[in-house]
Amino acid sequence: MAEVVNITATAFANATSAVYQPTYLERQWLSFFEGKDYVIIRLAVILFLWHEFVFFSRFLPYYICDFIPYFRKYKIQDNKENTPELVWKCIKHVLVSQITLQLPMMMAFHPVATLMGMKFLEVPFPNWQTVALSCLFCLMAEDFYHYFAHRLLHYGQLYKKIHKLHHEYSAPFGLAAEYAHPIETLTLGIGFFVGPAILLACGVEMHVMTMATWLAVRLIAVVDVHSGYDFPWSLRNFLPCWGGSDFHDYHHMAFVGNYSSTFRWWDWMFGTDAAYNEWKKRQAAKKKVA
Ligand SMILES: *[C@@H]1O[C@H](CO)[C@@H](O)[C@H](O)[C@H]1NC(C)=O
Ligand SMILES: [Zn+2]
Ligand SMILES: [Zn+2]
Repeated sequence: MAEVVNITATAFANATSAVYQPTYLERQWLSFFEGKDYVIIRLAVILFLWHEFVFFSRFLPYYICDFIPYFRKYKIQDNKENTPELVWKCIKHVLVSQITLQLPMMMAFHPVATLMGMKFLEVPFPNWQTVALSCLFCLMAEDFYHYFAHRLLHYGQLYKKIHKLHHEYSAPFGLAAEYAHPIETLTLGIGFFVGPAILLACGVEMHVMTMATWLAVRLIAVVDVHSGYDFPWSLRNFLPCWGGSDFHDYHHMAFVGNYSSTFRWWDWMFGTDAAYNEWKKRQAAKKKVA
């Protein structure tokens, strides 16, 4: 009898305890940093490995598709083949850029983000609704910034000296997503931080877990649009405003137009998508007849 009372008392104490009980994932995250030095380096290494994991594992299925004849019909530019030499050249360039440019940026991330009020070792982690909404906002903010910065990179010397490198692959494949001049990686990379910076400035809570999810979302999207494959299950078939590979692949093929990274609306609004221009032409022709 006494035992029963005791258990009930303990359960009650636990349930009403003000001390939050972290989940398994939260405990792992905390114990990785607890009482240890080099927090900045530890965090940078985790983010770097996360980046490598998402980037290369998202590319893998596309790479496998290249060896399966069945999937050929989904290739956007079937006539162009990327030789193993071209693929290797891309991998080497991307790895050098990731180690010499992105890793140092990840080192700078902790001090800067802490200053701006980002949460790192706070639990509980944000719930999935918060993470999803934040990611959607960041995606839209990045797309907006990307449209103008990318369009600027297509002007004269900026194109010749910087952006031309990214356009070396006129029939891109997933890894070509990060094949770019260092100045381009830095300028277009700013777009990644526009959303989080706005959210923080507006006093919205941002956790490093949200950032890690946003990083994965952005990487998956950018590898997808460069994949060279347009599958029937592409998001663009369900969301008309979604660009997808169909949209960005044309940009690599035609060199002009379709400057946005994710959505179609800015190109539509500013008339830099061919479909919009054709529609305008048809409208003008109709007016003449009338
Ligand atoms: C933009 O993408 C669409 C397909 O999504 C394509 O029909 C159009 O030609 C592209 N425009 C340009 C200028 O590349
Ligand atoms: Zn371009
Ligand atoms: Zn591209």
